[in-house]
Amino acid sequence: MSDRLAVTLTGIVGADHVLTDPQVTRRYETDWTGRFGGRARCVVRPADTGEVSQVVAACAAAAAPVVPQGGNTGLVGGGVPRGGEVVVSLARLHTVAPVDTDAAMVTVGAGATLAAVHAAAAAAGLAYGVDFAARDSATVGGTIATNAGGVRVLRHGATRAQVLGVEAVLADGRVLRRPGAVPKDATGYDLPGLLTGSEGTLAVVTGAWLRLVPRDPARVVALLALRSTADAVAVLARLRAATRRLSAAEWFTGDGLDLVLAATGLAPPFPRSWPTYLLVECAGPTDPSAELAAALDGVDAVADVAVATDRPGRAALWAYRERHTEAIATTATATAGVAHKLDVAVPLRALPAFEAQAHQRCDEAGARLVVFGHLAEGNVHVNVVGPAADDDRLDAALLRLVADLGGSISAEHGIGVAKTAWLHLTRDATDRWAMAAVKRALEVLPDRALLP
Ligand code: MLT
Ligand code: ZN
Repeated sequence: MSDRLAVTLTGIVGADHVLTDPQVTRRYETDWTGRFGGRARCVVRPADTGEVSQVVAACAAAAAPVVPQGGNTGLVGGGVPRGGEVVVSLARLHTVAPVDTDAAMVTVGAGATLAAVHAAAAAAGLAYGVDFAARDSATVGGTIATNAGGVRVLRHGATRAQVLGVEAVLADGRVLRRPGAVPKDATGYDLPGLLTGSEGTLAVVTGAWLRLVPRDPARVVALLALRSTADAVAVLARLRAATRRLSAAEWFTGDGLDLVLAATGLAPPFPRSWPTYLLVECAGPTDPSAELAAALDGVDAVADVAVATDRPGRAALWAYRERHTEAIATTATATAGVAHKLDVAVPLRALPAFEAQAHQRCDEAGARLVVFGHLAEGNVHVNVVGPAADDDRLDAALLRLVADLGGSISAEHGIGVAKTAWLHLTRDATDRWAMAAVKRALEVLPDRALLP
């Protein structure tokens, strides 16, 4: 890049942090699925909020579109260029301030990984309420941009429920700072809540004040073998009624487990395979095993069970669930294809019907379907292998099915570029107008008439 913008950006962040070599930029240009991406004009790696502000202002002055990027673990193409944008990587903003144990809060930079936040919280005797398999690479900024959910939503809520305050750079480079110094604050609009889930369309998140939760030192994980998804829904209802210590309820199928076993070489959890599995975890200050056992006592739907309380045993059971994403990607690559990943949610009562109808549509199209997800929220990760990367006919049919059942076409991964064409399925014209109006209001104001 030998233009004036390159010179300006180099002056802001230094030559080492304006990347243009295709060998180096490649990893910033394609998303994790391999389905979305394009060439970047350049990748810029600012060191702090001040540099992000200058970079964004320079890009705005040059009318150069910007794509903010965290750990690039997104699955909907929201953090990668489509062609010609400046990628602003937040990876160097990875500070984690000392935990405020009195307020149960931590201030972090957007580039801090989820794992780093967990480590800091644990060292202070606390925990962070959002967790998922990509924790070692996914960054706080990305999780805020997508309002990421994960495996603890049933206990602590999604990311929006953890964000007490936010720092972000607006489209013209101004820094919006809404500190989360106190958990109760009814002063004006909830801008942190608005920016959470805005996927970089309103501002570039540079830092956050995050709520921490009590650490639960004692845990038990049980992998339940079941005959159907309807049974999984019924068992979950029973567990929710019987214990307040439930901290995860993850659902997968025999097909998914077969892929995981083939891709990872893990030993099967049970002597025979079952149609459906429900992984549940209970956590608390004291061993919750007896409470979980009592809750499951006499539940005929549970055909077999594997239980672990020690850390390696729990991790071994979690691996059957957490390694689904990698196993599905391996399967898709083996057939020289990519997985179409649709993160949706349906009302729990409609989940068995959704699963059956989704299978029917995929069978008719000659595609392979693997579903798994976060059962308590009806959050289904729909993975379709077979159609070409740019053939979205089956995607459209499945998303329409979700909408018809009263569900969400994006539960926790965001809209990105993957689902913009289907926003109308669950957001009517007035809703889309209101969102567009908010975006316009936060964009560069030509006359700056509204500036204080
Ligand atoms: C998960 O729950 O494992 C993630 O959302 C990733 C995925 O959908 O593949
Ligand atoms: Zn998920």
